[in-house]
Amino acid sequence: MSNATSGGPGRLAGNGAVAARAPAKVNVHLGVGPLRPDGFHELQTVFMAVSLFDTVTVRPAEGISLAVRGEGTDTGRGPASVPADRRNLVWQAAELLARHAGVPAEAHLEIDKTIAAAAGLAGGSADAAAALVALDALWGTRATRGDLAGLAAQLGSDVPFSLLGGVALGTGRGERLSPVLARRRWDWVLGIAGEGLSTPTVYAELDELRAAGALPDGEVPASTEPVIAALRSGPVTALAAALGNDLQAPALRLRPELRRAMRAATEAGARAPLVSGSGPTVAALADDEDAAVRLAAELAGAGVFRTVRAVHGPVHGARLVG
Ligand code: C5P
Repeated sequence: MSNATSGGPGRLAGNGAVAARAPAKVNVHLGVGPLRPDGFHELQTVFMAVSLFDTVTVRPAEGISLAVRGEGTDTGRGPASVPADRRNLVWQAAELLARHAGVPAEAHLEIDKTIAAAAGLAGGSADAAAALVALDALWGTRATRGDLAGLAAQLGSDVPFSLLGGVALGTGRGERLSPVLARRRWDWVLGIAGEGLSTPTVYAELDELRAAGALPDGEVPASTEPVIAALRSGPVTALAAALGNDLQAPALRLRPELRRAMRAATEAGARAPLVSGSGPTVAALADDEDAAVRLAAELAGAGVFRTVRAVHGPVHGARLVG
């Protein structure tokens, strides 16, 4: 094993493993503007980090290597869809941080996945954010939070939010963030489908529906004010009424059985079930923790989801554990 933690300025002395975890997110509001020349859409979104976490553990090694366990892997639950090679954002995060800090890209990376992949929960972004935080500590790069946020934005539109956590207004392609005050805990039930949806495919479907005149063109985005006001002062009914997601219609079109899942959630007593991000996860607001646990049990019994989880938000962004 090479001594990957010696030699550079500001390195940590320890040779042991470093672990960081980062949360899933729900978009309580996702307003999608027109397609930009760079292939991204201008967003007006409000993210909330929720209590479902992936953990990334890093240790000194020669070169970069990666192992993935849990949800969306060969050995875990759900269809295998998380690559354990250079295609994984965590690998790219390691190379990017090493280049930024001028240190050798050397670490063994392990991802423990709890967040379903390709589910609209930003699981891959959470992994990348956790990797940045863990490798920053392992390599002693002394990157500031601002440096890490800049690198996060290069990795993906949702990665800066996975780093920040809490509740935030996201603009640009989602990477420009301003924290939003949320005074209370919000309880959610997440209904996770058996098969994932590709984010670019859902955006492309939205563009098609707009071009065909089936949906408004997105030039005038819905205001984020109602959702921000509801987050500031509750009650649950106000937030439920303000939830919105422009990617819901294209996700439902690509996955018609999602309608049945949304109906099942409503019949089980969910307030305003919403597709999370690009889907296909269904997020349902609950009145409180007890109601969330009851709703989760009811939905698990309905048999329309692969996994049902009761979670709450807001929670912190990527940070070291242990
Ligand atoms: O930034 P990220 O790599 O997560 O984006 C994945 C894809 O989702 C992009 O290539 C683009 O097709 C779509 N996207 C978009 N507008 C955004 C964010 C993502 O069209 N604001």
